[in-house]
Amino acid sequence: MGVIARVSGPVVIAEGLEGAKMYDVVRVGQLGLVGEIIRLVEGTATVQVYEDTTGVRPGDPVENTGQALSVELGPGLLTSIYDGVQRPLDVLKKSLGDFITRGFVAPPLDEKKVWEFTATVKPGTAVTPGAVLGTVQETPLILHKIMVPPGVTGTVERLASGRYTIRDPIGSIKTAAGSRPFTLTQRWVVRIPRPVTQKLAPGIPLLTGQRVIDTFFPVAKGGTACIPGPFGSGKTVTQQQLAKWADSDVVVYVGCGERGNEMTEVLATFPNLTDPKSGRPLMERTILIANTSNMPVAAREASVYTGITIAEYYRDMGYDVALMADSTSRWAEAMREISGRLEEMPGEEGYPAYLGRRVAEFYERAGRVVTLSPEGRPGSVTVVGAVSPPGGDFSEPVSQNTLRVARVFWALDASLASRRHFPSINWLQSYSLYVGDIEPWYREQIAKDWVGLRQKALEVLQKESELQEIVQLVGVDALPEREKGVLDVARMLREDYLQQSAYDDVDTYTSIAKQYRMLRAILAFGDREQEAIGKGTTVADLQKLPVRSKLSRMKWVPEKDLPQFDAIETEMNQSVAALAGGA
Ligand SMILES: Nc1ncnc2c1ncn2[C@@H]1O[C@H](COP(=O)(O)OP(=O)(O)O)[C@@H](O)[C@H]1O
Ligand SMILES: [Mg+2]
Repeated sequence: MGVIARVSGPVVIAEGLEGAKMYDVVRVGQLGLVGEIIRLVEGTATVQVYEDTTGVRPGDPVENTGQALSVELGPGLLTSIYDGVQRPLDVLKKSLGDFITRGFVAPPLDEKKVWEFTATVKPGTAVTPGAVLGTVQETPLILHKIMVPPGVTGTVERLASGRYTIRDPIGSIKTAAGSRPFTLTQRWVVRIPRPVTQKLAPGIPLLTGQRVIDTFFPVAKGGTACIPGPFGSGKTVTQQQLAKWADSDVVVYVGCGERGNEMTEVLATFPNLTDPKSGRPLMERTILIANTSNMPVAAREASVYTGITIAEYYRDMGYDVALMADSTSRWAEAMREISGRLEEMPGEEGYPAYLGRRVAEFYERAGRVVTLSPEGRPGSVTVVGAVSPPGGDFSEPVSQNTLRVARVFWALDASLASRRHFPSINWLQSYSLYVGDIEPWYREQIAKDWVGLRQKALEVLQKESELQEIVQLVGVDALPEREKGVLDVARMLREDYLQQSAYDDVDTYTSIAKQYRMLRAILAFGDREQEAIGKGTTVADLQKLPVRSKLSRMKWVPEKDLPQFDAIETEMNQSVAALAGGA
């Protein structure tokens, strides 16, 4: 039992904690508040406390649990809403009202719920880490695999299908160190990545149904992406679109609210979202980690680790998991506050000197991997982090450190948002370093000319921005007809392709097959347009063609009506040729 020497907000200095280790969880004060040792110098422990420390005084006791901060992993994670240290918010609310009583430790998973477990191996089977012992249908959408935890090797002694709670023993493994009983759950320390056999190179896109992302700035499965943008530019809507539409199996959403009520909105919205593929509640394949603004900063600091550990656990089952963190700036601010309390030497703008390392370590936990499993099951964790730079200035430390490690940059642009161009991802500033990695996939799965079309579209938009400078000086009428044609196609690309409403039933999602057809049609129009201009036709005449409105309505054509695009392309070729022929 140790004793508190000093209290500074969420940080407590404790003496006399015999045998304490870094990252041990301790119980602080009379109420037994949950905290974690984050610095240890000659018997003096610095503890960050995950609860409000009001009333905690020097001389109060501190007790070491001897366990590092960890999460409990097992059936019942899906549909859960947790705080940053895996305390279930609904349980806390139900039993204690809106105010979380301090020192209360609620089990992260429902201990009473009975699960139907189906054993898939027989006693006598030799097993290694990651081997599947059996399954539980956790929700109608996700089959939960009960796996041998990392570090355990041996022979299955007992194992039987049946109905169990997470506390019931379901069997045992005979290991070199003796018989080891196991349940439906395992624990993992949040600050250490779960081990894998091998990291795989990125090569498959995480398809999101968002045209500007999939076409121009794709993220690979197991890749990393960041969305920096000022307030109101669309970070949250973009992440929610990804949660809903990306072709990942499981979603982990870590929310660190920007405004007071923002997290409340998320908590109200998510449970009502429908998974478009199954028509079932999206929560059946989602875990929410929520930091409301009244929660202590230390819990926010821990929340991204809690989130990514849960993501890795589903990855280990062989799933593609997408983790969204909104916004990581709030996480970095929590680090800054705690670092300030520790009186550490501040780095840039008061953030701790290790900010860059922490950000990098977090994104490095993304990846497509060969999991620890005898059969080498693949799985992935894709990480998408929003960043909210004050004033939208991307040169600040959190944006800069994130840009250094994230391989996709979706630059949100306040001026596009104010013109109601959504998603307001700036096509000139954004980039994806995965395009080359994914190119073979595009070639095989979509079309040989996909990468070429993408490149051509980006060039048209680049050319538009150059021409706009001239237009500013001399007006559009002074441009040669060919260049007016370029501006015309660029506008079609912006308005009819890149603009996509999250709130329109059809437009909200575009399959990659449809994206290809749309892009091909718009660029083909551009080619025909240039040919017609060569024969003396004007852009103004081309804009009057009835087929133009059909092209701009392609985004609202339901996926099942894609064959209509053949007729549009035919009409386009014929009507432009007729116009040029008649000129
Ligand atoms: N893809 C989109 N489609 C339609 N509207 C959007 C889209 N993205 C953002 N918006 C609009 O912008 C507003 C602000 O977006 P939000 O994601 O809350 O911004 P941020 O999280 O960056 O502060 C939304 O309420 C919505 O009206
Ligand atoms: Mg937001």
